[in-house]
Amino acid sequence: MQMTLPAKLYRDPQAWARERQGVFAAGWQFLGHENEAPNAGDYIAGEAGGWPVLAVRGADGVLRGFHNVCRHRAGPLAEDGRGNCGKELTCKYHGWRYALDGRLRSAVDFGAAEGFDPREFGLFPVRIETWRGFIFVNLGRKAGALAELVAPLDPLFDARGVGVAPGTLRRSHDLACNWKTYVENYLEGYHIPVVHPQLASEVDATNYRVKMDGAVAVHEVPTLSGVNDGLWAWLWPNLAFNVYRYGLMVEHMRPIGHDRTRLDYLYFYDPATADMDAVLAASDQLTAEDKFICEAVQRNLDAGIYEAGVLSPRHEDGVAWFQGRIAEVHARAEAA
Ligand code: FES
Ligand SMILES: [Fe+2]
Repeated sequence: MQMTLPAKLYRDPQAWARERQGVFAAGWQFLGHENEAPNAGDYIAGEAGGWPVLAVRGADGVLRGFHNVCRHRAGPLAEDGRGNCGKELTCKYHGWRYALDGRLRSAVDFGAAEGFDPREFGLFPVRIETWRGFIFVNLGRKAGALAELVAPLDPLFDARGVGVAPGTLRRSHDLACNWKTYVENYLEGYHIPVVHPQLASEVDATNYRVKMDGAVAVHEVPTLSGVNDGLWAWLWPNLAFNVYRYGLMVEHMRPIGHDRTRLDYLYFYDPATADMDAVLAASDQLTAEDKFICEAVQRNLDAGIYEAGVLSPRHEDGVAWFQGRIAEVHARAEAA
């Protein structure tokens, strides 16, 4: 019998502090796609495991990653989202100006300060790698190559000819639950017949399987109508590539502290053919159903009567795999 993780890991700020280091700083976090920042000065700013970060393209065409924090008094250099900062990043607090390679170019109107050497106050760099144009950052700087992590996705993308269409659209949803509560919900199809009646009418939910391949969970589900015929591939620790007929939606399941999760959806679609109103309506419906159940589960995890449960060998292999990885992270942190 496979037991679940203890409920306290889903409500404890200390557990989140450990996961910030052991999961998020240790691994690769999604930031966006290169198509969103094609020109010099284009940036994408976001958050990875609780660290505000940004990627900016230099005049030399190179995309560089930095913490989105000024070395003066921690002001932000860019607002979340994407944009163009021109020839330099300018702090939003007192206006310090940084070159696109992170060097402090001007501590504007700072005055003479003994011992202050601007060369020592460049932006904190963040390791950045891309795969098929998808941009990832590694905050701890010690992760293995991104290509190794995503290797199981390559044959899946190749087999289905998955690419990114020119239209991009971002949308976010806020959930009042621990990030693991949502990720685990994503990692099983067991709940589909009860939580998603519309989806259940389109897929053969009893034959829904999740298979692990390295750090990738691949969902296999026979469709009845073909409408949802696609690919759902999840990548440790909190990203999913959802491939539909209209195109691709990348789903970033971002923890905001220990008790909130933000789902950042990035849709790639062909503006000439995709009916995005219909796509977004279906997507919003599914998300509302998952939000409802995840928030209810979280309230029960918080309440205290439930301490641990059991996992189905037929349906919850993906959840068991994920919980095993999380348990290792906590065991390592406790041993340290
Ligand atoms: S915090 Fe950036 S200029 Fe002051
Ligand atoms: Fe769901």
